[in-house]
Amino acid sequence: MAGFEVSEAALRARRGAKWHHHPADVMPAWVADMDFAVAEPVQEAIARIVDQGDYGYPARSGDETLTAAFVARMQDRFGWTVDPDLVQPVTECVQCMYGTALAFSEPGEGIVLQTPIYPPFLGTIEKTGRRLVENRLKDDGTRYVLDVDGLRAAVDDTTRILMVCNPHNPTGRVFSRDELMALGNLAVERDLVILCDEIHADLLYPGSTHIPMATLSPAIAARTITITSATKSFNIAGLRAAVMHFGSADLRARYRARVPDSLMGQIGITGTDATVAAWRHAQPWLDEVMEQLQSNRDYVAQFIAEEIPGIHHYKPEGTYLSWLDCRALDLPESPYKFFLETAKVGLNDGAMFGEAGKTCVRLNFATSETVLREVLSRMASAVQRVHAGKA
Ligand SMILES: Cc1ncc(COP(=O)(O)O)c(C=O)c1O
Repeated sequence: MAGFEVSEAALRARRGAKWHHHPADVMPAWVADMDFAVAEPVQEAIARIVDQGDYGYPARSGDETLTAAFVARMQDRFGWTVDPDLVQPVTECVQCMYGTALAFSEPGEGIVLQTPIYPPFLGTIEKTGRRLVENRLKDDGTRYVLDVDGLRAAVDDTTRILMVCNPHNPTGRVFSRDELMALGNLAVERDLVILCDEIHADLLYPGSTHIPMATLSPAIAARTITITSATKSFNIAGLRAAVMHFGSADLRARYRARVPDSLMGQIGITGTDATVAAWRHAQPWLDEVMEQLQSNRDYVAQFIAEEIPGIHHYKPEGTYLSWLDCRALDLPESPYKFFLETAKVGLNDGAMFGEAGKTCVRLNFATSETVLREVLSRMASAVQRVHAGKA
């Protein structure tokens, strides 16, 4: 058992959503939290605040700020030189999706998404009364790819924003430079603002490279808002801390004219200090976690190929999420409901990721080998039982 693994009993004793959303007989493999203990520097950063009872309005300067840690991290990991003046710490990424919709479009105007997609993108469009311009990813027989012709055809005169998720949740695709250039160039051509969610950028497997959208060209950068955080890769989602980066001062001014800073709120000290500690001092922890995730990712692929071959699945290039298309299983109900009720496994319902996902479920494999084996074997036996019943 790796040093960062947490026992099932300890996970159940916590008050997190992942292990408390379902009845106790269900094994959870849904929301994107990891079943791993956080890195020591992160734990120490929080302990320092608690030990000192230091809960007043904060003063953080120099290397202690979230902005400085973000600038250093982007340079170090991705060779991306960031102007600190264009960085805004925020409490969460999802908030920025809403802010961007409100700032750069009017009700009824279009926002283009590559579906299936992380549900809050769809929620942003629905709840702000904008219009979904759908561009489904294409299955090219080896992976899901950007449909460039479909994108060109989908974007119309009242489309204002292109929202991108890269690495892509739920498919785990890490878009290539060509795919990103196609997205970026179209945005320039049609005058779209780009919101690029890069929250999974640290969670890449060998063979893939993360290219920040804002590094593609000055013209693309000038219209790109990048959102990211340490919360996925360092397992601190409950601490609520993220970063919004504007690719130009003009973009920032236009955003702030519609969404004042005070409305975005101020980030708390636990989120700030934990993120700074994670980005500056916890990479060795993440390197070790990535080895475990890669082994889990490969195990999921092998298990499915051998035991539930009716599930269509590509290994993710990034993220700790497997996107499982169950249409060939011919189940009596939605795959989400079937696995929840018959297998007692709590996955994410693909239907929440848009029409393109309704035959799918999303499985979170950031857990111990023991839990992962249990999850997969419950799924395989449920499928065998239902197929035996039909024979
Ligand atoms: C693509 C993506 N964006 C954003 C989030 C959530 O970010 P936040 O909690 O900062 O709103 C997640 C969480 O899983 C995610 O997968």
